[in-house]
Amino acid sequence: MERMLGRVLVIVPTYNERENLPAIAERVRAAVPEAHLLIADDNSPDGTGAVADELAAGDDHVHVLHRPGKQGLGAAYIAGFRWGLEEGFDVLVEMDADGSHQPEELPKLLEALADGADLVIGSRWVPGGKVVNWPGSREFLSRGANVYTRMMLGVPVRDATAGFRVYRAGTLEKIGLDDVESQGYCFQVDLTLRTVRNGLRVAEVPITFVDRTVGASKMNRAIVGEALWRVTLWGFSGLPQRLRRPR
Ligand code: GDD
Ligand code: MN
Repeated sequence: MERMLGRVLVIVPTYNERENLPAIAERVRAAVPEAHLLIADDNSPDGTGAVADELAAGDDHVHVLHRPGKQGLGAAYIAGFRWGLEEGFDVLVEMDADGSHQPEELPKLLEALADGADLVIGSRWVPGGKVVNWPGSREFLSRGANVYTRMMLGVPVRDATAGFRVYRAGTLEKIGLDDVESQGYCFQVDLTLRTVRNGLRVAEVPITFVDRTVGASKMNRAIVGEALWRVTLWGFSGLPQRLRRPR
């Protein structure tokens, strides 16, 4: 399967994930042994960067991108994508460090890409998708964000905020990363919208999202606020086209 897809890079952004990183790295390496792993660390105060360096020293498939400070998940992924494209990877994967995205489900996502999708989303909100141990408030927020996103943007995607994804290199090149302004989690919606508006194919594959057991989520009010105003703005900027071509 990997031969058909080419070289795969799994990008894991980290901010204070010292305790989670070794286990997730090991699971990624076991689940997709040919794939390379890039850890994009924002100079975590807990020393995650040093843990990442140790992992990279012992494994030629593990790489580390040290960034100067906390600049958001979106910015970390863009830097990771740029690194991967420059290094000639054909497939770029997004995955959290905290175990919420199970590396064992990655082969299933890669298969959907091999079947012809340009972007594969590991989805919680399609039939067969699940969330485990998530507080009711987070589930409410995620479902609400997705309803609002579909309503404002008209994208035919059930889980547009999902962070477990597989992109073809060509998809990222086509949608363009240079003018992405999203810093936080709305980066996920941003790239989904760009993919759809470029006429590319999005496939959703059901996953089981398991809430972290170690460390804390970096989600906060500012991240929700940014998502809300940006999605609203994108919605109004796309309105003329949607009115001309109703779905
Ligand atoms: N480098 C870097 N910089 N990494 C970050 C930053 C940052 O500013 N903020 C978060 N991360 C890393 C975390 O260390 C973790 O590996 C991953 O990004 C996800 O962060 P969490 O804080 O665990 O996110 P979450 O569980 O609340 O949210 C997840 O679900 C959302 C949808 O419900 C993520 O997958 C989001 O991308 C997704 O939108
Ligand atoms: Mn998490």
